[in-house]
Amino acid sequence: MHYSVNIKERIHWLGVNDRRKNLFENIWPLPHGVSYNSYLITDERSALLDTVEMGSDGEYLERIEALLDGRSLDYLIVNHMEPDHSGEIDTIVRRWPDVKVIGNARTTKILASYYPSAVANIQEVCDGDELDLGYHKLRFVFTPWVHWPETMMTYDQTDRILFSADAFGTFGTLDGGVFDDETQFAFYEDEMRRYYSNIVGKYSGMVQKAFAKLAGYPIDMICSLHGPVWRSNTARVVELYDRWSKYEAEEGVVVIYASMYDNTARLADYIAHVVAAQGIANIRVHDVSKTHISYLINDIWKYKGVLLGSCAYNSEMFPLMESLCRELVHMGVKNRYLGLFGSYSWNGGGVRNLQKWAGEIGWEEIAPAVEVQGRPDAAKYTACEGLGVAMAERLKADRC
Ligand code: FEO
Repeated sequence: MHYSVNIKERIHWLGVNDRRKNLFENIWPLPHGVSYNSYLITDERSALLDTVEMGSDGEYLERIEALLDGRSLDYLIVNHMEPDHSGEIDTIVRRWPDVKVIGNARTTKILASYYPSAVANIQEVCDGDELDLGYHKLRFVFTPWVHWPETMMTYDQTDRILFSADAFGTFGTLDGGVFDDETQFAFYEDEMRRYYSNIVGKYSGMVQKAFAKLAGYPIDMICSLHGPVWRSNTARVVELYDRWSKYEAEEGVVVIYASMYDNTARLADYIAHVVAAQGIANIRVHDVSKTHISYLINDIWKYKGVLLGSCAYNSEMFPLMESLCRELVHMGVKNRYLGLFGSYSWNGGGVRNLQKWAGEIGWEEIAPAVEVQGRPDAAKYTACEGLGVAMAERLKADRC
């Protein structure tokens, strides 16, 4: 039996769970796997919306054939060309040589570079164009850079469903349930923020533009290319995406330190303790050498306060801290409260370079940086106290 889920009248979910891959885009950890979602509309005219990663499902074609039940596939709508969704385009075109591949001018360019034999099938659409499948009336909404330049969304006017490409997608496989109300929302909320912050967040400005464009569209269901089909928490996930793409964050502090001999680590723990003593409950402390940058970025997207500490390393900051700092600039994260600290043995460099970076990223520094030499003692801990108090006070000032 070929598995699929009927998500609405004549619309079928054809996703696949990938539990083999360790790193998404060969960088972001997948401890809970990832799903690639594909959708099939079996209307008077049939349409497949995006495919799955190449080879991720040996029965993908058979599942489509089973639902089509002897009919041919009329349209393949390509909302997004990244290979985790376009991987089976060639397979589809080989099986149904007359299928029309729906995309835009940018889709065609990328398609030509990945699957040149499919270009002959392309039927380019313009922003706002419609496609009448019979019962379902589709409209194409261009949403460039959410996540690639060609990315678009498809809106089903009949059932008010948004096929949203990567937007609202999550890491994590679908372990049984496909709809959000069949799963644990808290798990997917965290994995949706991680997907957003790691993959889409750099283009937050374009996400806001997409929201402005979609403002007039009533949406009852969101079918993303990763994670659950949102039907019960639709408004909630739209609100979360809106907040994240405006760089709005929760009250809380993420403390990230780089330490060779635990001196900076001790300062990190002490400063976190001071912040907690001032009444801030949400605090996460991470060792940059142990926690993958994916989770560090996720917490930085979640919390308003960021405290970064580095030991000196050959007169520079610690390499993994430098890598995190570079990535934060690259992603363009905005509007955070920042505090800096660190230690050195025979020369500085960690804090000095963190300060240079602070000038680059432009976050609000809540207190002067603190740097101590060697092992912390009572006087050195006391020197760090002001940093924790200032961070807590700055966060509490936003409460009213
Ligand atoms: Fe899920 Fe941008 O690919």
